[in-house]
Amino acid sequence: MVLTPLIYSLNSINTRYFNIMPTENRKQVILALLILSMILVVGAAYAYALTESEAEAKFQQLGCVNCHKEGGVAPTFDGVVDEIKDWAKEYPTIDAAVKAEHNEDSFDDLMDEMAANAGVDPSQVTDLKEFFEGVYNEAKASAGGGGGEAGGLPFSPVELGVIIVIIVIVLAIAFYLLRKK
Ligand code: HEC
Repeated sequence: MVLTPLIYSLNSINTRYFNIMPTENRKQVILALLILSMILVVGAAYAYALTESEAEAKFQQLGCVNCHKEGGVAPTFDGVVDEIKDWAKEYPTIDAAVKAEHNEDSFDDLMDEMAANAGVDPSQVTDLKEFFEGVYNEAKASAGGGGGEAGGLPFSPVELGVIIVIIVIVLAIAFYLLRKK
C-alpha cells in the first residue's frame, strides 16, 4: 500500500532518534497515527470549506451579482461554476485557463480583480476563491485526472503541500509526547 514506505521511514526515524513505542507493534502505532492525522486534516479541510449554497450566498452578499446575473455582463453563479468545470476539461491548470480566457496571469489575480469590481477587500473573497478552486479540482479529478497532478484528490498541489506539512507536524507532536524520558 502507498503508506508502506512512509511507515518504514518513520519507523527508522523513530528507531534512530526517539526510540519510543513498544517494539512489537511500532508499525501499527505509526500507521494509526498517520491515519488519524489524515482524518483530522481532511475533516478540517471539509469543515472549513464553503458548501455550494454558502458560496452562492456569499456571492450575493458581496455584490458579485450586480454583474453576475441573468442579462448581466457576466454569467450567474451557476454559470460561473459551469464555466470553471469546462476549464477543468480544457486546461491543465486553473491559472492556464485564466491566462487563455481572461487577460490575467493567475486565478488569484482574477479574483483580486473581481474583489475590486465588487468594491470589497481581496481578503473577503479568499473562501470563494477556494470554493471555485475546489470546483476546478473536483471536476479535474472526476474527468479521470487527465493531466491533473493532484491524482484525483479534490485538493490543489499547494493545498496538498499544506496537508503534508500538517501531517508531519501532528506526527512530530505525537512522537514528542510519546517520547521516553
Ligand atoms: C463590475 C462587474 C463585476 C463584478 C462586480 C464581479 N464580476 Fe466577476 N466577472 C465580470 C466579468 C465581465 C467577467 C468575465 C465574464 C466572461 O468573460 O464571460 C467575470 C468573470 C468572473 C469569473 C471567471 C469565470 C467566468 O465566468 O468567466 C469569476 C470566478 C468571477 N467573475 C467571480 C466574481 C466574484 C467572486 C465577484 C464578487 C466578489 C465578482 N466576480 C464580481 C464582472 C464582474
